[in-house]
Amino acid sequence: MNAIDRPAGESHVPGVPGMPHVPRPIQPVWVRVAHWLNALAVVLMMLSGWRIYDASPVFASFRIPPGITLGGWLGGALQWHFAAMWLLFFTALFYLAMNVVTGRIRSRFFPLSPRAILRDLRDALKGHLSHADPSRYNAVQKFAYLFVMLDIALLIVSGLAIWKSVQFPLLREAMGGYDRARVVHFCAMALLAGFIVIHVTMVALVPRSLLTMIRGR
Ligand code: HEM
Repeated sequence: MNAIDRPAGESHVPGVPGMPHVPRPIQPVWVRVAHWLNALAVVLMMLSGWRIYDASPVFASFRIPPGITLGGWLGGALQWHFAAMWLLFFTALFYLAMNVVTGRIRSRFFPLSPRAILRDLRDALKGHLSHADPSRYNAVQKFAYLFVMLDIALLIVSGLAIWKSVQFPLLREAMGGYDRARVVHFCAMALLAGFIVIHVTMVALVPRSLLTMIRGR
């Protein structure tokens, strides 16, 4: 079979005549599985966390409408929060370990510089940023994804300082004490909520990217 007879979309393994070659996915299966499990865990933790917050608000004048929280009451919300916590912890650990072991963290998210972020941000706001190659992230995407990884790490660490504040006194003091740890946890949650709003808006503007995160290409 020569190149003209070949069915569309099918190429051949170089050097192996006749062997069909399936192109490598843009998003490997482990990235997709970890991403969707992480997204589920983050949403469950955020909605149940809002209910826990309402039981003892950090900022006296600020409450979350109960209708958009999860758990029904403090006890129920705590159960959701602790259950989703393990899902978030293990999927985040798996995602990070796989990214490091495969070298993907370096190839997908670096190089990155403040100048490149500002340039791509300017181009994006003018509507000039190209989305033609879904296998590469622009500098703003790289920054946003690295930012959310660090933010989730901060959420986990500050959450641990609140949950086990007696068992981990050094961690608690590193956060500035129990009450400060609650403020850190709340602020990291607010940043994550901001990320989700922008992230989902960007995905809606470039729906092709959703396909890569569902079927790999
Ligand atoms: C709720 C919490 C979420 C978090 C923390 C999150 C985080 C991330 C991160 C870190 C990446 C980069 C993955 C990588 O390349 O290794 C990513 C990519 C992506 N996410 Fe999310 N995500 C969330 C929710 C969602 C939702 C709800 C959608 C769908 C509407 C979505 C759609 C996508 C898509 C399509 C990509 C690929 C982007 C692209 O190729 O440009 N994510 N997300």
